[in-house]
Amino acid sequence: MNRLYSFFLALLLLLACTACVGRAAAPDPAPGQAAAPLDAAAAQPPEPEDGPEEEGVPEEEPPAPPEPEEPYVRVIDPAKPMVALTFDDGPDAACSSQILDILEEHHALATFFEVGRNVAACPEPVGRMVELGCEVGSHSNAHKDLSKLRKSSLLRDLDTADEAFVLAGAPAPLLVRPPYGAVNKTVKTATGRAMVTWTVDTEDWRSRDAQKVIDYVQSYGELDGEIVLMHSIYESTVEAVRVLVPWLQEQGYQLVTVTELMAYYYGELPQPDHFYGYTYFASHGRTDAPIELPSMYLPQEAPEAPPAAGQEQSPGPVSDAPDASDTPDVPPEPFDPTGIIAVSAPDPEPEEAPEPPAGEASEPLPPAEPPAPPQEEPEKPAKQSQDAKPVSPGVSVPNPAMFYP
Ligand code: NI
Repeated sequence: MNRLYSFFLALLLLLACTACVGRAAAPDPAPGQAAAPLDAAAAQPPEPEDGPEEEGVPEEEPPAPPEPEEPYVRVIDPAKPMVALTFDDGPDAACSSQILDILEEHHALATFFEVGRNVAACPEPVGRMVELGCEVGSHSNAHKDLSKLRKSSLLRDLDTADEAFVLAGAPAPLLVRPPYGAVNKTVKTATGRAMVTWTVDTEDWRSRDAQKVIDYVQSYGELDGEIVLMHSIYESTVEAVRVLVPWLQEQGYQLVTVTELMAYYYGELPQPDHFYGYTYFASHGRTDAPIELPSMYLPQEAPEAPPAAGQEQSPGPVSDAPDASDTPDVPPEPFDPTGIIAVSAPDPEPEEAPEPPAGEASEPLPPAEPPAPPQEEPEKPAKQSQDAKPVSPGVSVPNPAMFYP
């Protein structure tokens, strides 16, 4: 019995050894294939002693690591085509917001020439424009024909608009687009602002037809260096923008602000008391020396606290009170609270414009007029006036907050 027991024990040991040798000699599974389990023991984790055993590990697609959200960095290539979309007459609570949605979605910027009284009534979009890096320019306070205002009324209008911009969280704009493109010498050279018009008029206010606006822009031809005029108060314009922004980018255009266009394409920054109209843009081309605006992409910091009423920014006759000293020697208020850009003293020239209608400032303001077609510039080429105009020291190193948030 003892012998029989020993025999079975030896047989069991032999079988166990045979099983071990057989398993070790089994061929490795082909790469990419799962090892077929030989028996229950094979289901255990693979033995680590054999290096090539690792090839038998199933090669499945590793799960893609979650991609970190990279912040979008906006870079303008001055050598590539660029176009400035501009929107006048806003803000409009609905349309401005929709246009900003489209711009944000496509990482595009634009310039908004806003009416001061509209800003006062609807300031929210202006704050968002600033946050996104869009440029906010002035379109006057009451959308009047500035060329028909006395100088004091003109300056009061622009100052009033500036107060609305500052209250809305935007810097007092350097850029002003005169309503209807109407200018005279005083408007062009004596406001302490830079007047800028446009080069491509979509006439969106006339057609109120998105497809016509789209067709006009898409069939315009070369748009490099152009400033496109639209109005941010029409749903049809919103729909046109929805198509045009991605289309322009597909064509290779960088969508820039007016000041960016001036710096990168025309090689100069807008200057106070200068007028940039058809003559300027028609007589200038792409520069060989683009100006870098290093701080232009920085988001707006906390909006400056609005100045206390009647203090600092308006020490002189610029106030809501009737201005009895409506004389031509009233100095314009510097628009730059930092004082970095000095405003040259105004010329004590006589008023060119006729007296505005009595009670103009107190009567209810009509809604913004649709823009008139651009007027021919009667003035001499802007280049000449620029050459003759002394440039304030420090202008070449602008305060970015002057142009950008
Ligand atoms: Ni307008």
